[in-house]
Amino acid sequence: MPEPISEEILLKRIDTQATEAARGRSYLSTLDEHPLMRQVDDLLQRSRAKINGIGPAIRTKMEGDLWTAMHGNYVSTSNDLAFPATFVQSQGPYVWDSAGNRYIDGTSGIAVMNLGHKYDGVERYVLLQRLLHPGAAPGDIGFAPYAELAQELAKIAPGRTPKRVELFNSGTEAMECALKNIIRHTGKRSFLAFQGAFHGRTYGALSLCASKARNVRGFGSPVLPVHHLPFPESAEDMDHTFHAAEDLFATSLPPEEVAALVIEPIQGEGGYRMPPQGFLKALREFCSAKGILLVVDEVQTGMGRTGTLLRVEQEQIEPDVIILGKGLGNGSPLSAVIARREILEGPPGSHGNTNGGINAIAGLGVVRAMDAFKLQQCAETGMHIRTALRKCLAQHPGFDGVRGAGMMNAMTVDHGAHGRRRGAFIKRAFERGLLLLPAGADAVRIIPPLTISKDVAQCIVDLVGQAAEDVRNA
Ligand SMILES: Cc1ncc(COP(=O)(O)O)c(C=O)c1O
Repeated sequence: MPEPISEEILLKRIDTQATEAARGRSYLSTLDEHPLMRQVDDLLQRSRAKINGIGPAIRTKMEGDLWTAMHGNYVSTSNDLAFPATFVQSQGPYVWDSAGNRYIDGTSGIAVMNLGHKYDGVERYVLLQRLLHPGAAPGDIGFAPYAELAQELAKIAPGRTPKRVELFNSGTEAMECALKNIIRHTGKRSFLAFQGAFHGRTYGALSLCASKARNVRGFGSPVLPVHHLPFPESAEDMDHTFHAAEDLFATSLPPEEVAALVIEPIQGEGGYRMPPQGFLKALREFCSAKGILLVVDEVQTGMGRTGTLLRVEQEQIEPDVIILGKGLGNGSPLSAVIARREILEGPPGSHGNTNGGINAIAGLGVVRAMDAFKLQQCAETGMHIRTALRKCLAQHPGFDGVRGAGMMNAMTVDHGAHGRRRGAFIKRAFERGLLLLPAGADAVRIIPPLTISKDVAQCIVDLVGQAAEDVRNA
């Protein structure tokens, strides 16, 4: 049992931490040395699931349980339950359902668990922080993890221009903050985005979206004027995109009236669509020449998912604004806007929220873990998955378009009979113990945690092949 802490001791410890911070030591290292950390580590160790062998272990056919029934009855129907199961435990690449079946999580909780489920190097700080001071209105009332994560993210963002940071809980909130601050800073309201884009579901972010009609149906006019350019997937497309922009500027929207252009470096919800190499760099030059701010939404591509901490590093560009979410908290709600300093210098009270940054400690843990983590190795595992998938799926016509970068992989599934083939494939993968989710019109994303071993990677490929075979034989 952890010893109870008296208020007096706690105050003394907090005092020590503040002194350490003042001496320039990182907040995480003060937690590392905290007397309670040993007990936290011990608790984490004891909570680890026992894992025998590699890959899934399916004992019971799951077609729903008590909680999926409750979900069906009580949860808003706009939430789309992906699997007929409820998950009660997780560890690394694995999740366990209420019947004790073990699955490989090929979704990483929709690109959140980049370091794997219950990653000790993050959870130990999250747990200790909750014991010491869970935080309260951290953007407005001094909170060490918030200030320190802001500093870390400002340092991580590419380029030498000084940055400021604001923290939130979800990707869409971060996008709202970026949009409002850009409008205030530039005095302009028009934006450019891309066909197939997804940036969140609140009204401002939704104005930028053009990936699925169901996201916008019935919600009225967008709150911002946004023009959607074609998203290029080849060098020829790229010329077409720039021509479309020039055409727009010449006919209906003068460039000096555009506040910013917003792009996902690889489209996520739109179907894991990849622009040709060099496009982001060309876009940076284009925006600079036209006086348009460049906003890069790395909510899905960021925190190591594509082989570097941020996707933009691969084209060595400095966006004016970067949006992070999902993997930034590795399971704790956390998102961020990192922007050129002057963009986030609005008057006090002009933007903000109560709880944003309350999980900043998770972000500090993730940044530290990523620092030590061999992203190159993870990119190689991702490449192995794509190569092996291409080989395996060559025998399965209709399942064979494989693409991706780092550990952001997707395969395409032809519509098949009445467009149901992709759903049937995902269902068969689930029954075999592999969780997968669709993206866009015809893609299936294969995005396990970056931390998987080569053996688990191979197991994923084998399961995909078996599920494709099942569907072909059905
Ligand atoms: C690129 C991108 N931006 C923004 C969002 C919105 O994030 P959230 O669901 O946390 O609001 C998502 C979510 O899928 C996303 O993929």
